[in-house]
Amino acid sequence: RADSTLAPAPSEALRQSPFLRACRREAVDRTPVWFMRQAGRALPEYLRVREGVPMLEACRRPEMVVEITLQPVRRYGVDAAILFSDIMVPLLAVGVDLDIKPGVGPVIADPIRDKGGLSVLRPLEPGDVGYVAESVRGLVGELGATPLIGFAGAPFTLASYLVEGGPSKSHDRTKALMYGEPELWAELMERLTDITITFLRLQIEAGASAVQLFDSWAGAVAPVDYRTSILPYSRRIFDAVAEYGVPRIHFGVNTGELLPMMGEAGADVVGVDWRVPLDEAARRVGPGKALQGNLDPATLFTPWEIVERRARRVLAKGQAAEGHIFNLGHGVHPGTDPDKLTRLTEFVHELSAR
Ligand code: CP3
Repeated sequence: RADSTLAPAPSEALRQSPFLRACRREAVDRTPVWFMRQAGRALPEYLRVREGVPMLEACRRPEMVVEITLQPVRRYGVDAAILFSDIMVPLLAVGVDLDIKPGVGPVIADPIRDKGGLSVLRPLEPGDVGYVAESVRGLVGELGATPLIGFAGAPFTLASYLVEGGPSKSHDRTKALMYGEPELWAELMERLTDITITFLRLQIEAGASAVQLFDSWAGAVAPVDYRTSILPYSRRIFDAVAEYGVPRIHFGVNTGELLPMMGEAGADVVGVDWRVPLDEAARRVGPGKALQGNLDPATLFTPWEIVERRARRVLAKGQAAEGHIFNLGHGVHPGTDPDKLTRLTEFVHELSAR
């Protein structure tokens, strides 16, 4: 059982930040903004810091993590920072042989396909990822009243990489395991759930103000399979961190049909991709939840007038939600002009000022 007194008490200024207020569905004087994948290749200062350092190595250097996490906050003026790390970090930390290949994504040396393969997924000990706690503590000191979002990959999304051996469009092997070998699937998901809980608790206890559970690829399955084979594990994760009282965000891509259940899993905030307008998402998710989203990241490749028009529409639809955090519908795409993101942040702040 986690001891919630282990998490540092936030300052009043931090508690009253627009991001945390919107997560709690309280009135805000402007709509808070942050961008998934706000740190990274869109920023020249990121490319300079990362030069010659592999992704997973960068994640294990607290000084580098602090610098990279702060870069988008400085440049864009966003209302929250997200820890620079990756969903694969806790798996690496328990001993999974994996790499993150530039332009490809996570690649697993020995994909998990049978019971024997599960043994690599031993429980995560906080000491395995001491560098993450150190990074979070460093950031909380630097960020002041700007909230830091911690995160983890949800069990299904982690399982997909582990079973496929790398990125996949169809998730065939993962789904075949889920549908065809339910007992093995359950054991895989239980182990990933335990790892994820430890990883999120550690970030909260080090001072993260909110957590986001990325189930990026859960939209690949039908609602009936989501309910029986994914939701119970995500719910166990949200329940396990509830006692800290920090907002819990739940996000996936292509989850239009899953939105009610993604809320039901226990999140305070449901992240929405660009396919479902926020007023419709609010109807699907129901009362008692804030929404996060959902400008199509491709919009940033259009002239400013179009970005503005579409951002205006997102804000208007977001009024139907009990709380709205402006974000993209998925991560910032490589090649995005950083100046557009700065301008977008300013625009959302100005248009939503009340
Ligand atoms: O700015 C932030 O959002 C925080 C950092 C962050 C990264 N990955 C850094 C990263 C976060 C929150 C993630 C989460 C993550 N990682 C997810 C869930 C979010 C989502 O996009 O749906 C997933 C599915 C992964 C797995 C992963 N790692 C992928 C698909 C890739 C991209 C491969 C590529 O290069 O296109 C990575 C690598 C990665 N993670 C990079 C960054 C900045 C690029 C690495 C590099 O530039 O060398």
